[in-house]
Amino acid sequence: MEKIFIAFVAALLLSCSHAQEVTSTTPSPSQNTSTPAPPPPPPPAKVVCYYNKLSQNRSDATKFNLTDLPKSLCTHVIYSFATLDPSSLSIQNGSLGSDLESILALKQEGVKVILSLGGRGDSLESEKFSRMVNNGKIRTEFIRSTVRFLRDHHFQGLDINWEYPVCWNGYCSKNRKHADRNNFVNLLGELHKGFVFYNLSLSVAVSPLQSIADEAYDIAGIAHNVDWVNLMTFDYTNGTFVETAIHSPFKGPPPSTVDTVNHWLLKGAHPRKLVVGIPTFGRTFTLAKPEWNVPGKPATKGAATGLNEAGIAAYFEICTEPDNYQREKDIGSYISKGDQWVSLDDIKDVQLKAEYIKNSTLGGGMIWTLDTDDFSGTSCKQGKYPLIQALRNGLGLENKAEA
Ligand SMILES: *[C@@H]1O[C@H](CO)[C@@H](O)[C@H](O)[C@H]1NC(C)=O
Ligand SMILES: *[C@@H]1O[C@H](CO)[C@@H](O)[C@H](O)[C@H]1NC(C)=O
Ligand SMILES: *[C@@H]1O[C@H](CO)[C@@H](O)[C@H](O)[C@H]1NC(C)=O
Ligand SMILES: *[C@@H]1O[C@H](CO)[C@@H](O)[C@H](O)[C@H]1NC(C)=O
Ligand SMILES: *[C@@H]1O[C@H](CO)[C@@H](O)[C@H](O)[C@H]1NC(C)=O
Ligand SMILES: *[C@@H]1O[C@H](CO)[C@@H](O)[C@H](O)[C@H]1NC(C)=O
Ligand SMILES: *[C@@H]1O[C@H](CO)[C@@H](O)[C@H](O)[C@H]1NC(C)=O
Repeated sequence: MEKIFIAFVAALLLSCSHAQEVTSTTPSPSQNTSTPAPPPPPPPAKVVCYYNKLSQNRSDATKFNLTDLPKSLCTHVIYSFATLDPSSLSIQNGSLGSDLESILALKQEGVKVILSLGGRGDSLESEKFSRMVNNGKIRTEFIRSTVRFLRDHHFQGLDINWEYPVCWNGYCSKNRKHADRNNFVNLLGELHKGFVFYNLSLSVAVSPLQSIADEAYDIAGIAHNVDWVNLMTFDYTNGTFVETAIHSPFKGPPPSTVDTVNHWLLKGAHPRKLVVGIPTFGRTFTLAKPEWNVPGKPATKGAATGLNEAGIAAYFEICTEPDNYQREKDIGSYISKGDQWVSLDDIKDVQLKAEYIKNSTLGGGMIWTLDTDDFSGTSCKQGKYPLIQALRNGLGLENKAEA
């Protein structure tokens, strides 16, 4: 049946005027072997690494050592976060630390260095972001001052991480719906236009939850107006710690990473614009009963570790506790010890996500954050930056060992 169909199609093709091109795809030595120009290769995948400036505030044992910055693993490093000044509605001058100089030095290695505005903390004052986007004159002034700020400080692009239009701090309001949603896209469109002349890139970081996206984002409009979208495909538990959960599931029951990507594709985003978030942090829980050590069991937020924040631990801390390690196929991994339980991405989880990104010709992978991977290579004994390396290798990028 199949063979007959193929023969029929072949006959049809041969009889039409494009026969020359069709036969030339199976050249024999006697034929003119010039084939049509192959399609241009896709742009190389991105490895977008956020750097958290608060890594400099950690105590000595967990503080990020700037001399360990990865010189050639990330294609983009995003300095986070700058904050928005609530009165002038421009980027706050005091947002940048003395660590910036080391980050900017990465430009000499070919890394693109970008500034991110917002983040969860600054978005607690979402009202100021809303005021800025919802007034055309203020937007224009914001763009003018931002271009100047980025150029003065030698950044190559801006990333916007307002959490979130319409859904301030995760709570969506009907009253804000049309204004925030439409004017956020207007801001991006105007920024993009304003940035072209100065060759500055524009990206956004977005919620992975469909419940937020449906209210906050005109997905097609956003994707059209930015260079790429950083999907924050982690923390699906949105910081609620009522039961154990794998916080950055690959697949499985929604919501999951694949689920979020599919939603953005369905709503009109080009695959190459989608950059998939991969966490180098784990979400930690204290189990109600130590024997309830699987996902979906009652639990509360885990005790603070070296990152000084309850409920969160760095990969370089988790990897040293291999007891009771479990992997749920195609979903993710977790570790338990006594009444402590951690959901994490290990090397295998990152490899799987990287393979998926490559297979689906997405834009690349995004790491939150480079300073919670095993940057020194001394904790996990898997080399320096084992998770970022796994992402790079999985995407098929040239393997560049960090000396
Ligand atoms: C093959 O054909 C193209 C035009 O169709 C011509 O330009 C080219 O010179 C030919 N090459 C050979 C090796 O005959
Ligand atoms: C980080 O540390 C510096 C210096 O100790 C301090 O001024 C700043 O407030 C700290 N920032 C945060 C967010 O903890
Ligand atoms: C940071 O790393 C450098 C080079 O490995 C080392 O000389 C220095 O002592 C480290 N600093 C801290 C505070 O650990
Ligand atoms: C930041 O500094 C620039 C140049 O000194 C100044 O024009 C601008 O008003 C300052 N911005 C804020 C928010 O203070
Ligand atoms: C957070 O997640 C919980 C459980 O999935 C859900 O009930 C709650 O509405 C979410 N909160 C926000 C602000 O999205
Ligand atoms: C634009 O900036 C990128 C880095 O972000 C750089 O690679 C590229 O060469 C620049 N292009 C021009 C025309 O300056
Ligand atoms: C990627 O594609 C290969 C070849 O088709 C397939 O074997 C593999 O399962 C895919 N992996 C993922 C994670 O999609």
